Formats: sequence, C-alpha cells, structure tokens
Amino acid sequence: MAAGGPYDLVIRGGMVFDGSGSAGLRAEVAVRGDRIVAVGEVPGRGANEIDAAGLAVSPGFVDVHSHDDLAVLMEPEYPCKVMQGVTTDIVGNCGTAVAPFEAARPMFRAIGPEVEMEPWEGYAGYLERVDATRPSLNIAALVGHGTIRRAVLGNAERAPDAAELSRMVAFVQEGIEAGAVGLSTGLIYEPGRYAATEEVIALARALDGRGLYATHMRNEGKYLLEAVAEAIRVGEEGGVPVEISHHKVGGADNWGKVRESIGLIEAARARGLDVTADQYPYTAGSTSLFAVLQNNAFNERGEEGGLGRADPAKVHIAFCPANHGWEGKSIREMADLFDLPAEDAAKKVVEASARTTVVIETMDEADVRLVMAHPTTMIGSDGVPGGSKPHPRLYGTFPRVLGRYARDEGIISLATAVHKMTGMPAVKFGLKDRGFVREGAFADLVVFDPGTIGDRATYDDPCQFPDGIRAIFVNGVQVADAGVHTGARPGRALRRGM
Ligand code: CU
Ligand code: ZN
Repeated sequence: MAAGGPYDLVIRGGMVFDGSGSAGLRAEVAVRGDRIVAVGEVPGRGANEIDAAGLAVSPGFVDVHSHDDLAVLMEPEYPCKVMQGVTTDIVGNCGTAVAPFEAARPMFRAIGPEVEMEPWEGYAGYLERVDATRPSLNIAALVGHGTIRRAVLGNAERAPDAAELSRMVAFVQEGIEAGAVGLSTGLIYEPGRYAATEEVIALARALDGRGLYATHMRNEGKYLLEAVAEAIRVGEEGGVPVEISHHKVGGADNWGKVRESIGLIEAARARGLDVTADQYPYTAGSTSLFAVLQNNAFNERGEEGGLGRADPAKVHIAFCPANHGWEGKSIREMADLFDLPAEDAAKKVVEASARTTVVIETMDEADVRLVMAHPTTMIGSDGVPGGSKPHPRLYGTFPRVLGRYARDEGIISLATAVHKMTGMPAVKFGLKDRGFVREGAFADLVVFDPGTIGDRATYDDPCQFPDGIRAIFVNGVQVADAGVHTGARPGRALRRGM
C-alpha cells in the first residue's frame, strides 16, 4: 500500500497519544480506506482534513467490560458508547452472553432490554448477525459460562456429570472457534454461582490457550482475596491469561483490601501468569436487584455474600420495566412506600419485574484511585443498558477517566489513561491491528480536547453525552463530529486474532 497522498483523511496539528503509553508527540495522521497509512509528516492532501491544533489524537477506546450484546443490535448507532469515543465493545461479560440463544434470552431479561429477535446459531451466528446489522462500533464477544451452564443444567445447584461437562466444553469450543476472545464467568449470579472452581478450570482448558478468562469473581466483599486467588488458580491450572472484571471491594468494613488484591495480582504476574484487571471510575456499582437479594445484601448474611452488605438508602432503582415511576427511588423509599422492611420491599419490586436493575453505593474513593493508578488496571465501563436511570458509567466512563482522574486529579497521566483504554486492552483481548495509532493499524481514532474532555452523566441525570470530543472514526469512517453522531455504521464483528 503506497503511503503517498492523496488520502481519505488527514488529521493535522494534534498531539498524538499512540496507545502505547508513551508521551504525546505532535504528528499528522493519514488514513486511506479503513487503515492508518502514515503517522508523522504528511505532505499529501486528504479528502477530509481535520485541524486538530490544540487537540489530542488517540486510538479509539476499547470497552473491555460491556453488556451491550443485544443493545447494539436493537440500537445500532449506539450513541451512549460511541459518543464517548468507544470504537470497540467487548460483550459477553459476567458469564452472561448470547449463545445458546434459548438460554441467553431469559438471562438478558435481567441485564438488558427485552427483545424479540430472530434466533442465531451459536457465536458464529451472533457474530454474523453483528456484521449484518453493521453497528456504529466494532463488537468482540466473550463466551458466557452462565449462559452455557443454564443451557445444559438449568439453574441446578450441582456439578455437571461427565456428559453434561462435555456438552459445556463443546459450547465453549464453538464460541472460540467462531472467534470469541475468551470465556467469562459471573460467580455471584444464577446459575454461575453453582459452579465449583474445578468446573471453571475444565472450561478454561477447553480454550486451549486461545483467548482469556474474564471473571466477575465469587466475592467482592469480605472474601475478595479468596476470590482473586480462585481467579488466579483458574488461570494457572487452565493455562489461560486472566482478566479480573471491575476490580473493587464493596462494604466499608472491607475498604482498603484492594491493596492486598493488587498484591496477589503482582505475585501471580511474578510467577509468569498474565493477569490484569479492569475498572469503572465510580464508587457505586450496578447490578440486578434479584442478584442483590440472592446474595443477601439486605440482611446479616450479606457480610459473607458476594456483594457485601448494602444500605437500602444507598441502593437506587435504575430500571424497572413494571413501573418506570420507581426508577430513581431507593429501596429505603420503596420500603416506606410499601410499609415493609427493606428486604421485603426489594422482593416485591423483583416480583413486579425480575429484570429490575439497581445502582449501589458501596465503594471507597481512595480504593478507586489506588486501583486506577496500578499498571495492571485497564478501563471497562460495565454499563448496563436499559431504563431511565442507568448507572452513569454507561455514558461517562471514558471521558471521566481522561478528564476527572487524569487531568484534574493527576491520578494517572493522560498518556497512561489513553493506554489503559486502547493499546493495553487491544493486546490483552487479541484485537489485531487495533488500539494503536501507527501505520497499518485500523483507523479507529478519537480527536478530543484534553482541556475540556469530561463526563456529564450523573446519578440523577445519567443519559448525558460527554464534553470535549471533536471527532470519532471507526474503520476510517467518521461516526461523530463535534458532539453529533453522523449516523454512520462502519462497525464490524471482531474475531480473535483477525
Ligand atoms: Cu458486568
Ligand atoms: Zn460483573
């Protein structure tokens, strides 16, 4: 491919953060078709010339922790992510994924919009559906253990027998061979929580070194360290790299434990295991209310549970299809409304709709900063689409890291922040030729103003696009211009290593 002009696009005068973590360098970036063809001095003209003087140019952001599996098919322009500069979403996290289709559908009722769709066959079928739908951003998928377990065992609270385990292995193999980037678990969720470590190791082995193991661990409270040890064991015995999803600890009694969990990650890395983590930049979490109840977060047994104990006044309804008027209300308010104890009020909300999701204040800001500053942490939104009061991470994660945490608080440098959302995840998740601004890479690019970039999504008003993003390109095609979605849909299904 000739590097001379003319080009389809030239971005001039910007400070290029190439995704490797090295400091920004002034350079011009030229694109032809879907690829970056020159970085440096570009004498030739571009059909589209962008003046980026005073602005930063970076690779498109990779959201390693999304739950947008179905939402991107329903709403292919997907502005909540695209307008943040996210050019690739990795779906299928927390054990909840898209195949087998019949097992996937009921699970998505609890974690995303309910839809009627033409069924697809396995991961191969899902990835083909993504390509046929042509969303505005790229999609890579993880195989979800919970969905596979439900297909084989329903919600049975027991280990699979040999025949059942081999059916589960076959489902994992189908996904990996179709191009999935790894296997995810959600070990606090039904039915993933019923799996013993040995079952997860057996499925990790089925990856045969292709792709990674991403886990919403069994416990993010009192037993955080035991849960990290379990994840590391799966990696070591399963022979796969590990990604700890949304690395954090909940419950005031447990705050500070992330110092020790980081220590476990460092020790495993020193032994040669590739273990990293991701994080969303907030002190509140979000999950299904059913899971909050199942983990006993509103009673004494919550101390031992996967989420830790939750204060009903600090748990707010994000999405309740049965009654949108309840969205934004706390479980404490619901208890007053129903004149019931908090836990019973929460049960009544779940009876009204099993798909109810909530936002839970449970973390410590100092822990968020500590985890973010650590070199093994990358960024993932864990955004849960649906409802009028979703957790603001769905709209704000990436600009918030760049604005609040890098620029305003200096927790990490801008170059490091960009690396944690571009080159680092692209390498870890095996996204070939993505995540870097360099010759030959795909032209997934973001042009932003480092002085003004920031999130505008709040807990009270979460569906707000960020400030400071000048232009976004996916596969060389412009999808946003000065904060306005262009309507273009150049996204693709990304298959591991391709
Ligand atoms: Cu998740
Ligand atoms: Zn999760």
